[in-house]
Amino acid sequence: MNSQENVSNRRIYLDNAATTPLDPLVFDAMEPYLRYHYGNPSSIHTLGRKAKSALETARKDIAHALGALPQEIIFTSGGTEADNMVLMAAVRDLGIQHIITSPIEHHAVLHTCEYLQKVQQVHIHYVQLDDKGNISIDHLEELLKQLPPCLVSLMHANNEIGNMIDLTLIGELVERYHGYFHSDTVQTVGHFPLNFKEFKVDFAVGAAHKFNGPKGVGFIYIRKKNLVKPIIHGGSQERGMRAGTENLASIVGMAEALKLSLEGMENKWQKNTFLKEKLVSGLQSVIADVEVNGDMSNANPAVLNLAFPPVLSQDLFLFQLDIHGICASGGSACSSGASKGSHVLPFISTAQNKNNIRFSFGKGNTLEDIENCIEKMKAIFTTSASR
Ligand SMILES: Cc1ncc(COP(=O)(O)O)c(C=O)c1O
Repeated sequence: MNSQENVSNRRIYLDNAATTPLDPLVFDAMEPYLRYHYGNPSSIHTLGRKAKSALETARKDIAHALGALPQEIIFTSGGTEADNMVLMAAVRDLGIQHIITSPIEHHAVLHTCEYLQKVQQVHIHYVQLDDKGNISIDHLEELLKQLPPCLVSLMHANNEIGNMIDLTLIGELVERYHGYFHSDTVQTVGHFPLNFKEFKVDFAVGAAHKFNGPKGVGFIYIRKKNLVKPIIHGGSQERGMRAGTENLASIVGMAEALKLSLEGMENKWQKNTFLKEKLVSGLQSVIADVEVNGDMSNANPAVLNLAFPPVLSQDLFLFQLDIHGICASGGSACSSGASKGSHVLPFISTAQNKNNIRFSFGKGNTLEDIENCIEKMKAIFTTSASR
């Protein structure tokens, strides 16, 4: 065992919403495309054709797994690029002047909306939330009634608190008012049985590193009837929709990771539910006044955000977890470590003036991880309280 493995073995990894470890079977699927089949899918010689065939097989497999047509899947560098493309292309090509979103979306959506507001004078409307972070369907409908046909961008599962939306309900509502529906499904691809056609989403996005695939690769689903154009210009890859030589090994890895995730999806959902409930009840039995941020009854079981009594500054609290070998987050990965804090938790009543931590579960987690985590959290509170 090398020293890197030693370090990771001592740690309890509960930060799977930030990223997941690469599945060894995914690595095996990718390796030949890094070592031997290095042709450019746009080349017409044998190596190029071999690469092209692997690219199109991956597209077909991913489309099939998500209730889409192969031509509706476009490969990208990840979730951020995919969210950017949906919003920017919808404004430019579909005549969108109004976007309805929520203030707790990922920054890939929120910052793109802010940019479109500033540069293109697009009107951004934020749907109301309850104090657990659930969106108000009544308010969404009121906005849809008042506005001309617009783009609704609402994430399927929130990456910080796990709350989920009902894609079918919102898909039908948006369709009734002749709008377009984009859902950031980065946290649910590979975790939840998605069928884009059935759910009436116009656009959706995914990122392989959230389901034990490689980092730096993702996709956009664009429903066939939505005639949008590229935002990255250059060669004619991806049928002219996204220029740049394809990241073939990673795309092959993403297809394999999705296949493996689908095979184990039901078990993973049940196991995460079990681990999540164990962690909440275990922590509540050893630490006073621990509360759940978000809506446990309506959430992705892979994500648990807890409010602890405020014993330390948030940065010191996170540091204590780290030195006790627990990998978890204060907010999303992009904001953890930065003193700026979460943009989601200010909307959640239980989170105010607390030490808030997101624990997120994945394939590799065991009951032993949860028990160790509870012991270590208890030790952190015992020492912090006696200071
Ligand atoms: C909900 C959500 N959307 C988008 C992204 C961005 O994805 P990527 O890191 O692949 O750019 C993330 C990543 O944390 C996410 O959780």
